[in-house]
Amino acid sequence: MNYKKIIFLLGLVICSIAVVNAQDFKYIGAAKCKMCHNKAEKGQQFTQWAASPHAKTMARLKGAEAKDPKCLKCHSTAAGVDQALVATITVAEGVSCESCHGPGSAYKVATTMKDRKLAMAKGMIIPDEKTCKKCHNEQSPHYKGFNYKEYLAKVMHDDPTTK
Ligand code: HEC
Ligand code: HEC
Ligand code: HEC
Ligand code: HEC
Repeated sequence: MNYKKIIFLLGLVICSIAVVNAQDFKYIGAAKCKMCHNKAEKGQQFTQWAASPHAKTMARLKGAEAKDPKCLKCHSTAAGVDQALVATITVAEGVSCESCHGPGSAYKVATTMKDRKLAMAKGMIIPDEKTCKKCHNEQSPHYKGFNYKEYLAKVMHDDPTTK
């Protein structure tokens, strides 16, 4: 084998490892985040989300719509992702944490979570306008336009101790 071949094969091995790792990040569901993110003094992210339209949006889909992938892809985190990545998340919880923050199986560890860089390397997303527009766009039959600032203010769940 010549050098070029060896380098090419090495590249292939590295790429396939990267792909396997990326697929290791699975969706675990909001109840798992609740364990650590529902303290009153830290902003009660779970309770705030549970009271938001995102948590109740499966109730919008009537009859056959609740099984229609065309509707589910925006109304349910669990139904809208690669089914191989579904761990403990349920379709019924609607649009939950991991639609915005990324699949949590690898970053949910407290020591990882405290280190933003490490958490991001393990699949955590700090959401921005683009994250929202995956669903808030003209493909939605009830699209009402999307003003990021206004919409963000309605679903914010700041932790008063981290600012
Ligand atoms: C074992 C406890 C634990 C679990 C489970 C957990 N987190 Fe965290 N999370 C933390 C800690 C600790 C921090 C660091 C900030 C703090 O002290 O509150 C944090 C920070 C974050 C941040 C802010 C990161 C930053 O750098 O601004 C986000 C977003 C977040 N978590 C989302 C989630 C989501 C979504 C889930 C569920 C998929 C989850 N967490 C599960 C403990 C946890
Ligand atoms: C591209 C993402 C997307 C798709 C696909 C989608 N929805 Fe929605 N849906 C949304 C968003 C986002 C809203 C919130 C409305 C807004 O603020 O634009 C919404 C709102 C709704 C509402 C509330 C209506 C209202 O007036 O507020 C109903 C009912 C609904 N959707 C049903 C459906 C059904 C049924 C389907 C499948 C035929 C579907 N949606 C497909 C994203 C989507
Ligand atoms: C609709 C999208 C969306 C959903 C759903 C969502 N978040 Fe967030 N979250 C955000 C945005 C946007 C921010 C602000 C990011 C920034 O700091 O720029 C944020 C911030 C956070 C922070 C950091 C708060 C701070 O001030 O340090 C935590 C912790 C968090 N989210 C946890 C959760 C948990 C737990 C859930 C589910 C129970 C959840 N989020 C659901 C969009 C979302
Ligand atoms: C996975 C798809 C998805 C993502 C990502 C998403 N949303 Fe939504 N959002 C929805 C759906 C579906 C509804 C409709 C909820 C309902 O009323 O049933 C909605 C409703 C809302 C509403 C209520 C609108 C109204 O008419 O009252 C606000 C505000 C909102 N989203 C803000 C955001 C923001 C801000 C982000 C990004 C940080 C975001 N959403 C990301 C799917 C999504």
